[in-house]
Amino acid sequence: MSYAKIIGTGSCLPARVVTNDDLAAELATRGVETSDEWIVERTGIRQRYMVEPGTTATDLAAIAARAALEDAGIEPQAIDLIIVATSTAEYLFPSTACLVQARLGCHGAAAFDVQAACTGFAYAMATADSYVRAGRARNVLVIGSETFSNILDWDDRRTCVLFGDGAGAVVLSASDEPGVLGVHLGADGSQEKILYAAGHVANGQVTGDPFLRMDGQAVFKQAVNALANSAQEVCRQAGVQLEEIDWMVPHQANVRILNFLSRKLGIAPEKVVITLDKHANTSAASVPLALDAARRDGRIKPGQLVLMQGVGGGFTWGSVLIRM
Ligand code: ACO
Repeated sequence: MSYAKIIGTGSCLPARVVTNDDLAAELATRGVETSDEWIVERTGIRQRYMVEPGTTATDLAAIAARAALEDAGIEPQAIDLIIVATSTAEYLFPSTACLVQARLGCHGAAAFDVQAACTGFAYAMATADSYVRAGRARNVLVIGSETFSNILDWDDRRTCVLFGDGAGAVVLSASDEPGVLGVHLGADGSQEKILYAAGHVANGQVTGDPFLRMDGQAVFKQAVNALANSAQEVCRQAGVQLEEIDWMVPHQANVRILNFLSRKLGIAPEKVVITLDKHANTSAASVPLALDAARRDGRIKPGQLVLMQGVGGGFTWGSVLIRM
């Protein structure tokens, strides 16, 4: 068993759909002006899903994980590690992964969260792959789950129109067949201020700024360069040519970033999975949500070569190249 392979995927989107027109009408009541036209033209987003108050990243993660287990055809007891990528955990501790473990009944499975903002799923996959290949875990639940609607400043139209809530999950298992072929991760902490949520709990109070802040143009430039370099690096390590990739499943931040990226890498736009129009940016959940959607609608097939990529706050970036 020298590989880690995805044997099941699942996802969860909240029931409430908020179209750009719905959001524009809601924001207008606060004196904040936006429009469907502006949002579609600058981002490609047409709608997003949002949780009702009280629904947490744990709730979404548990549903996505159950769907992934069902798809994989394995029982919760077979899971020996759970890793949740999230920046919107409901508690400081226990981790979201521990709360999910209890809900699923994976008694005894190790459980922890990773936090790398929108790159979280790539970091979690890289960690899970290492555990499996080292023989320290056989079946890992890797989950990205977010409720970014809780950390948005609804008076800041430059950010509040961009995000949605959701969760995606995969079961990564020990296998004799090739699965994860390569991993490339990176970070540049000196770029902390281009995308951040700087609130924290101290002395019994939330202090600092509890909302997400972003320098959109700086993020755009960093994202395109980081994703392009990371794609080339992971392919070089795995001995794969970019032309061989069947599908790109990138972090769904902005359709203009994705168009720029596919042009820069010479990858046909038809090979890029886009769910941004329906899901908006769901941070660490966006890649597993897109992967699950493209598997379930029959686009991504067994045996195909898939490049998953994340980029986001930190600044962080990462790529995971897999054979499905
Ligand atoms: N509706 C209407 N007008 C708006 C909105 C809005 N929602 N947001 C900004 N504007 C206005 C601004 O006020 C500004 O008007 P002004 O010149 O009168 O002040 C004008 O539009 C241009 O604002 P910019 O911020 O310069 O807009 P830009 O063209 O850079 O587009 C965007 C903003 C879409 C965020 C862009 O910078 C971008 O694509 N950045 C990439 C970052 C990204 O996608 N982040 C997602 C999260 S990060 C991640 O996941 C990695």
